[in-house]
Amino acid sequence: MKLAIVGKGGVGKTTLAAALARRLAAAGRSVVAVDADPDGNLAAALGVAEAFTPEPIAGMRELILDRTDAKDQGGGLMFKLNPKVDDLPEKFSVDAGGVRLLVLGTVETGGKGCMCPEGALLKALLQYLLLRGKDDVVLDMEAGLEHMGRASARGVDALIAVVEPGMRSVQTAARIQKLAADIGIERTCVVANQVKEADQRERLERALSGQTILGVLPYSEALARADLEGRSSDVEDAALGEAIEQVGEALENELGGLPKIT
Ligand SMILES: Nc1ncnc2c1ncn2[C@@H]1O[C@H](COP(=O)(O)OP(=O)(O)OP(=O)(O)O)[C@@H](O)[C@H]1O
Ligand SMILES: [Mg+2]
Repeated sequence: MKLAIVGKGGVGKTTLAAALARRLAAAGRSVVAVDADPDGNLAAALGVAEAFTPEPIAGMRELILDRTDAKDQGGGLMFKLNPKVDDLPEKFSVDAGGVRLLVLGTVETGGKGCMCPEGALLKALLQYLLLRGKDDVVLDMEAGLEHMGRASARGVDALIAVVEPGMRSVQTAARIQKLAADIGIERTCVVANQVKEADQRERLERALSGQTILGVLPYSEALARADLEGRSSDVEDAALGEAIEQVGEALENELGGLPKIT
């Protein structure tokens, strides 16, 4: 199962990405959780201490130059667009309680992505994970729309837009979903998060009518407290756990079951 989690800033993308990755691992599947947010904190959400968080691939200059065979040819930089990447997930991920965590990091660029060795390597790595790799993949994306221009999530089985009570997050989700269709992502779904009251739930469901809502996650005092104390990975909240389980099941139904482990 290949998933990308998207949405407005602060809606709960990383929280959901970590929870879905853990759930897949608990079912005995091989999962790579990819922090594709330049300002990411998926490691913390998976309970990986800072000292053990992997170095971002985008910062591995030697590796990038070596794999892309980048050479300054006087008139400009020449490099391979299809570098070897199939060994990188194994080499540069760390184990996070049964989930393998890979951190992509930042390519200094604006707009539509950069034609540079770093960009080429990251793109090749994502395409490998999504199109050829056998592992389940959960991509924790950067907030907003910009990454859609780079088509980083092309090839996912489902794009999951997280929304919170508030129409701005619903609008961001709608924009992302439209762009997803433009790059050929056929299945987009929504998860509502941080919902405190029935009224919020009803309003969100109305605003999202016509879309596939995988589930509604309640606001969790326990999670908020845990984050304040810097331990956002080990939260005991039965209602939240149950709602995440339902999201996982709804997703499996939507995809017609989990892909076979090969
Ligand atoms: N259901 C919830 N109940 C309470 N707090 C939550 C819930 N979901 C997420 N949070 C908290 O909200 C904050 C933002 O969550 P998270 O980091 O998952 O969002 P994000 O969309 O990944 O943010 P960013 O755009 O910065 O990457 C965190 O402090 C997280 O602990
Ligand atoms: Mg995040």
